[in-house]
Amino acid sequence: MKIKSAEFIISNSDVAKCPNNKFPEYAFIGRSNVGKSSLINMLMQRKNLAKTSGRPGKTQLINHFLVNKNWYLVDLPGYGYARVSKSAKKVFQKFITQYFQKRQQLVLAFVLIDCRHEPQKVDLDFMQWMGENQIPFAIIFTKADKLKPNAIKRNVENYTNTMLETWEEMPPHFITSSSKGTGRDEVLAYIDSINNELPAH
Ligand code: GTP
Ligand code: MG
Repeated sequence: MKIKSAEFIISNSDVAKCPNNKFPEYAFIGRSNVGKSSLINMLMQRKNLAKTSGRPGKTQLINHFLVNKNWYLVDLPGYGYARVSKSAKKVFQKFITQYFQKRQQLVLAFVLIDCRHEPQKVDLDFMQWMGENQIPFAIIFTKADKLKPNAIKRNVENYTNTMLETWEEMPPHFITSSSKGTGRDEVLAYIDSINNELPAH
């Protein structure tokens, strides 16, 4: 899919105030610092469309970006970030939960996982919750530039085996590097294929 335009539309903490047209949207979720905002910039080939930082906790709101004037990418705050105060965490959790439970336009969430790490409970629990709430998701293993191909393969296999302890099948998954552009074509083609199956809006 060719990206002809990508524009920031609105940030907010209230799902009721998100854009109210019918365009399909794809949300990026995962632990703080996993690379959600960087991935959005990589997919759009724009350096500073979504704000990124080396320090976790950068994205604090629901951010809508309109792509090709007919679908949205949504950048969300991370979960599982210990240095945000407990009360801030609760507020994040509340609006993220509401976003996933209420947002009709949400077609699919990408759950981002750092490819270097062993499966973490917070991610597995989150995906379990997505399953229980019947929210479709795919997995993106990020920061592939940090590991050699063999190590990535081993970690993805390990992750798959862990998922298969509770899931019937491994969800669709992708391997990306925002610094190298790895996985860009695959993720965009996947979004395009879903957009093409949706009824006209
Ligand atoms: P929050 O908004 O805090 O939840 O974080 P986030 O998930 O949006 O992460 P962000 O995109 O801000 O990136 C966090 C850090 O990881 C930054 O220092 C990025 O430069 C770095 N980073 C993100 N993606 C990659 C990648 O593919 N490769 C490498 N080497 N670094 C990455
Ligand atoms: Mg972010």
